[in-house]
Parts: sequence; structure tokens; C-alpha cells
Amino acid sequence: MEKPEKLLIDGKRLDGRAPDELRPLKIKAGVLERADGSAYVELGNNKVFAAVYGPREMHPRHDQQPDSAVLRCRYSMAPFSVEDRKRPGPDRRSMEISKVTREALEPVLFLELYPRSVIDVFIEVLQADAGTRTAGINAAAVALADAGVPMRDLVSSVAVGKIDGTIILDLMKEEDQFGTTDMPVAIIPRKKVVTLLQMDGHFTKEEFKQALDLAFKGCEKIYEVQRQALKEKYAIKEGE
Ligand code: CDP
Repeated sequence: MEKPEKLLIDGKRLDGRAPDELRPLKIKAGVLERADGSAYVELGNNKVFAAVYGPREMHPRHDQQPDSAVLRCRYSMAPFSVEDRKRPGPDRRSMEISKVTREALEPVLFLELYPRSVIDVFIEVLQADAGTRTAGINAAAVALADAGVPMRDLVSSVAVGKIDGTIILDLMKEEDQFGTTDMPVAIIPRKKVVTLLQMDGHFTKEEFKQALDLAFKGCEKIYEVQRQALKEKYAIKEGE
């Protein structure tokens, strides 16, 4: 990808968005037959599936916890999901994203209800355009709810960043690659608790505050779409 001369022209981003605007977001709950719960998310050009299995007995057994379930997350990118073919299988990046995804989701689950069990969350990225970890977390939260796993709330996630000195919401690929800062955030919307915060680049203290505030606003919108997806699946249709 060639570096564009400017990422912000007359206050508009390369795809025409305002700095505080999300990419188009579509979420559908319950899309995979075999999984206990599932969801599909399109966030701009990202296409991500999440599948949840469990709670079920943990195998291998030596990984069981006597007093709680274990949340196991696997983030994986399809070889055809990126511009240069991605070598299939786990790598450092996907292991890191799997770990932070687990940590982002764990606080909303009542794992103590299911001793010796495991809840598996598989996140499969079919098309990537920056922000795949946030799209994956949004999909996984809906898939967990779709599986009927008891939850305190959903988790909503979005990245914020800085391009040409301006704080922006929901970075796309060019902005991720050529911008100054990328800060993915996940929150528990009702409690306003942050469960993921990473930063690539730098912010001043003021910029950080402004960016975090923007992330909260973005997550509120995402939360609405997540809840709508669940309502659509579980709404009792007239005549049923
Ligand atoms: O996807 P996310 O922003 O959560 O993670 P990242 O490590 O900041 O990656 C940003 C983007 O780089 C991804 O969404 C992909 O579009 C791209 N990427 C790629 O082209 N090839 C890879 N092996 C990994 C990432």
C-alpha cells in the first residue's frame, strides 16, 4: 500500500468520514449451525465470524480449574484475509490478540458457575482492514450472549487514533499503517469499565483523554448495534 500524501483533507478522511465517525457496522447473531452461539460482524471492510462452544467439560483435563470455567479464545486470520497472503496457523500477533481478547471478555462472565468447564471462543477473520481485534471482540460478545452464557453485560470495542494531528475514531488500514497512533479499547458499556487498552504510537495526556472519551462514544454506538442483533434473533415474531 502506498503512503497517501495526506490522511485528512478538508477535515474529511480518505473514505469521506468525519474524524468521530464509525465505519458502517453490521452485526448478525446466530449465523453458524454447529456452534452453541455465533455472530458475524462487518466493520467497514473487516469481515469476522465468532463461534462459541460450551460451557462444556474441559479437555485436556489437567487444564481444568476446580472452582471455575476457563475462557479459551483463539483469534485466527484466514490466509486470504490480507493483502499479502498470511501464513496459516498461530503466530506471535494472533497469540497476543487471543490473549487480550480473553482478558477483554472475562470480566463480564460468571465463570465460577461452571467448575472444570471450558468456554471456547473462536474468532475467524475472513477480511482484514485494521481493527480486526475490536471487530472480533464485538462479535465474540454477541456470540457468547447468543450461546446463552450468563453475562453481566456485553463488551464493546473500537480503536481510536491520531492522523495528521487529529484524534479519530475507528481507524481503517491506511490510517492504522500511516497514522501516528492506534489505540484499541474495549469497555463494559453499562459500568463504563475498560477491559482492553493497547497503544501503538503516542498521545499527550490531553489527547489521551480526548481519545478515550471518543472511544467510549464509539462503543456506545456499537453496543446499540450489538443489542439490536440479539433482539433481531430472539424477537418473538407475530404469529409464532
Ligand atoms: O487488526 P488490528 O488493527 O486489531 O491489528 P493490527 O496488528 O494493528 O493490524 C492492523 C491491520 O494490518 C490488520 O487489520 C490487517 O489489515 C493488517 N495486517 C496485514 O495486512 N497482515 C498481517 N499479517 C497482519 C495484519
